[in-house]
Amino acid sequence: MEIRNCDEFNKKIKRILISENEIKDKLKTAGKFINDSYDGTPILLVSILKGSFVFLADLCREISVPCEIGFMAAKSYYESTNSSGIVSITMDLQQDISKYSVFIIEDIIDTGRTLKDVIKLLKSRNPISLKVITLLDKPERRLVELNADLSLFTIPDHFVIGYGLDYGELYRNLPYIAEYDSEV
Ligand code: IMP
Ligand code: MG
Repeated sequence: MEIRNCDEFNKKIKRILISENEIKDKLKTAGKFINDSYDGTPILLVSILKGSFVFLADLCREISVPCEIGFMAAKSYYESTNSSGIVSITMDLQQDISKYSVFIIEDIIDTGRTLKDVIKLLKSRNPISLKVITLLDKPERRLVELNADLSLFTIPDHFVIGYGLDYGELYRNLPYIAEYDSEV
């Protein structure tokens, strides 16, 4: 894909699936989920880069209990027949997570493979608890058994962009979630 001007850029935005206001409403639910879970154990929000950076930035401002923020980036490699891959951490957390209630903050669960590997890795570091909050969930595409503890929107099998999610590194800055048009 080569985008040469704004017209080409805009043409690929097929339709808005989830508006800014719909996202705002659900962020309150997610903030409450974290606030209600607080029992005095330190909370660490772990953002999986890059897709979740916008979600994390808005979500953390709906949280009113003490919480820390960490970032990690992961890539998974798979053999075609194997649904569990080798996860390679391209950027790791700085914190020792054994003192924390950890919340993984994810943009979208698609096949679920990357997140499954990340969960396995983080569990091996013995956090006090580990929960997953995802902005979007595409259950039709799942290849491994995996469910988020909180999923804000369930969507059909469309490729989506915006609010942190990209196509070819573009569109992360859209304030809403849209369907990407691969036809035009
Ligand atoms: P999976 O669950 O291991 O298949 O991979 C999920 C990752 O693929 C997500 O964290 C996204 O970065 C990316 N991804 C999956 N579906 C979409 C989509 O519809 N739009 C943009 N990125 C996607
Ligand atoms: Mg991601």
